[in-house]
This record gives sequence, structure tokens and C-alpha cells, in this order.
Amino acid sequence: MTVSVRVPAKVNVQLAVGAARPDGFHDLANVFLAVGLYDEVTVTPADELRITCSGPDAGQVPLDRTNLAARAALELARRYGIEPAVHIHIAKDIPVAGGMAGGSADGAGALVACDALWDTRASRDELLDICAELGSDVPFSLVGGAALGVGRGEQLRTLEVGGTFHWVFAIAERGLSTPAVFREFDRMNEGLRVPEPVASQELLDALAKGDASALAGAVSNDLQPAALSLFPELEHTLAVGRGAGALAALVSGSGPTTAFLTQNAEAADRVAEVLLASGSCRAARVTEGPASGAVVL
Ligand code: C5P
Repeated sequence: MTVSVRVPAKVNVQLAVGAARPDGFHDLANVFLAVGLYDEVTVTPADELRITCSGPDAGQVPLDRTNLAARAALELARRYGIEPAVHIHIAKDIPVAGGMAGGSADGAGALVACDALWDTRASRDELLDICAELGSDVPFSLVGGAALGVGRGEQLRTLEVGGTFHWVFAIAERGLSTPAVFREFDRMNEGLRVPEPVASQELLDALAKGDASALAGAVSNDLQPAALSLFPELEHTLAVGRGAGALAALVSGSGPTTAFLTQNAEAADRVAEVLLASGSCRAARVTEGPASGAVVL
């Protein structure tokens, strides 16, 4: 028997970051939107736990037990007293170390796939609980759509979205480490009072209405200055996308993928073409959001 699960990438349309907590994490007001770039996670019974990965970025994916997909399988197996003898294959289309929750997607995908393969029938709440243990963004990868994440981002409230938003994602030449970007955020804010993170009502209203222009006026990412400080070339990519007519241009999460919101699919194609021709990114992907969370295929 084989089970395949498709899991989406995300962009943060708002990422409000508070001061570092005693545990090293940061309180967030994190508005996630799932978008139509997907990893596919396939599990098959095997002699022992094994991970393989395919796709253009496969060489950058760890194939040991640090991979969130392996950790998800191990945790579900531990809870249900099952031998985690499974081959996990990741068909990777989400950029690696890109700020689009690709690793989190694989964790959520492997969890849902193993739950089906082993017939463990964990409740939705238990799956979400395991996701939160694996990482701050993993619960959202399971749920998809749009959601506000508070705490370290793992406590989710589903959000209404009144339409489809058109996006272009410019994939950078190299990745950025999320902890490094948070550390840079701390360094840049040293000695300053960092306000409590709060979700923008204007942004939530724009999402609910499906109004791209209003959303463009409300997007924000508190990690953007830190990502730009570590990866200054991204300023140019953002400027190119803006110049090509994007309604909004921002760093996706901790970066370095940059996200461009456009009025419609035609405008997205145009922005993607200009970005590619400029040589300021490795690839430009056109897609839409919201997208569904983890689904068994
Ligand atoms: O939760 P996750 O393991 O994905 O987080 C990766 C890293 O990102 C953490 O180790 C931490 O450095 C940083 N982080 C943070 N505050 C959050 C989420 C992540 O500082 N709310």
C-alpha cells in the first residue's frame, strides 16, 4: 500500500514579530495564506525509516532524522506503539530554505500520510498537536486556506477569504536560515522597545473581501529588514517586481523568496516575465491563494 499527500506552501501576508521570549521564540501575529505550490509526500511500507527526495532542489534537503517528515513519522509511531518502518518520498516543488514553509509542509504531509498508512486514525486535534511539536508553521501546513497564528505562530484561527489572490514568487539563488533571520531581527532591535504583535484589522478585512488592492496596502513583514540585511540583493528583486506593476512586493516569511501580489493572472505573468528577464532571481513562479491544506491524493 502507498499513500500520497499533497501539501501547500505559504506566504505570510502579515508577520508581526514581538520581542524575544525567555524560551528564545518570538510571539507573533502571523497571517498565513496557503498558495498553490505543492510538495507531494508519499509513504510506503519498508524495512526501516528511509527518506528520499526528488525535484530541482532535492540536493539541499536533509535525508536523515532531522527532516521534519521523518520526525513526524517517528512521533506518530511513538504515540501509537508502531514500528516506524516506512519509506518517505518527498517530491519537492516548494523552494528549500525559502520562507515558504517547505520543510513544515513535508512534516504535515508525512504525518497525514502515515496516519492513513498505519490506520492510526488520530483526531484532527492530535494531528495539530503533533504538528505544533514539530514546528511553529507545521499546523498551518496541515490546515491551509488562511489563518491567523498567534503564540509562536502555532495557535491558529481560521480566516475567511472572499476571493482568489494572484501571486508571483521569485526564488532566490540561495536560501536563508530562519533562526539566523530571527537573530538578525533581535540584533537590529537591541535596546529598542518592540511592540506587541497585533493582527491588522484592515488586512483581515481585505482578505475577507477578496480585495487585492486593499490587501496590497495592508501587507507587512517585520522580518523583512532582517532578511534584507542578510541578503541585500533582495532589495533589487523587490524593486524590479514593483516596477513591473505588482500591487505589493514583500519578503515571504523569513525569506529569501520574494512575493508579488498582482491584480489578476495576466499581470502575474507579466511580473514573472520581467523578474526572470532581469536576472534578479533563479525562477519566478505564478500561482494563486488560498490553497487547500494537506490532502490525501
Ligand atoms: O518553530 P520552528 O522550529 O520552525 O522555528 C525555527 C526557528 O525560528 C526557531 O528555532 C527560532 O529561532 C525561530 N522562531 C522564533 N519565533 C517564532 C518561530 C520561530 O524565534 N515564533
